[in-house]
Amino acid sequence: MPGKRTPLVAGNWKMYTTSGEGAILVEDLVQLVGDSFDDVEVAVCPPFTGLKAVSTLIELDALPVKLGAQDVFWEAEGAFTGAVSTRMLKELRCDYVIVGHSERREFFGETDETVNKKVHAVFEGGMAPIMCCGEPFSVYEAGETDDYVRSQVRLGLAGLTAEQASALVVAYEPIWAIGTGHTPTPEKANDVARMIRATVGAMYGPPAALECRVLYGGSVKPENATMFFMEPDIDGALVGGAALKAATFADIVHAAR
Ligand code: PGA
Repeated sequence: MPGKRTPLVAGNWKMYTTSGEGAILVEDLVQLVGDSFDDVEVAVCPPFTGLKAVSTLIELDALPVKLGAQDVFWEAEGAFTGAVSTRMLKELRCDYVIVGHSERREFFGETDETVNKKVHAVFEGGMAPIMCCGEPFSVYEAGETDDYVRSQVRLGLAGLTAEQASALVVAYEPIWAIGTGHTPTPEKANDVARMIRATVGAMYGPPAALECRVLYGGSVKPENATMFFMEPDIDGALVGGAALKAATFADIVHAAR
């Protein structure tokens, strides 16, 4: 992970933690990672209901942890029952919003078009999106990963400014690797990360390609994290299952440092 891109290790807690559990998890995590480092950014993404408690802890104890949400709606406000806006997330000091996770695409009808609206809303709301992309197993098997992911990136990231593109985080998460214990080889993941970077470059110019961060996600564990982090185009990880235990998430953070 060379260059000026600060590695990012983000924990996606999905629909697992209550507010109280999240607060304990983040306190335990900080105990294990320590509180003085700037060589890696650590972020946690609790469910909406857990954001306030974790945000308060981060602020009161000046914890070196950033906060992210797992989703957002693109409208600023209105009669959208059940939805949450960027302004609500920003007030809780969110820095990141995960957009277009494959579980949202599968279970909540997200499309490249809605992902794109959300990416724009997140930037306009003063945060950075962690835009997820990644292929199902059938596409991987057919050797069509690059075309599939390139299309997700082109559509999901359409219409940004070069400056926004530089601040982007893209998470490459092969769907077949999420929660399965299977992963692509680090070399293969890096090939896709490089292709994503090149696509951002073709859309927004070389500085954006150089500066945007590309994470790998899908069954990242303490045992395999170092191998992914050693790849030149992989700038960190989006971690699901292993982020739910402070010890394993802390080991992944240590691997990134
Ligand atoms: P996993 O999930 O680490 O449990 O595979 C990753 C993700 O879905 O972001």
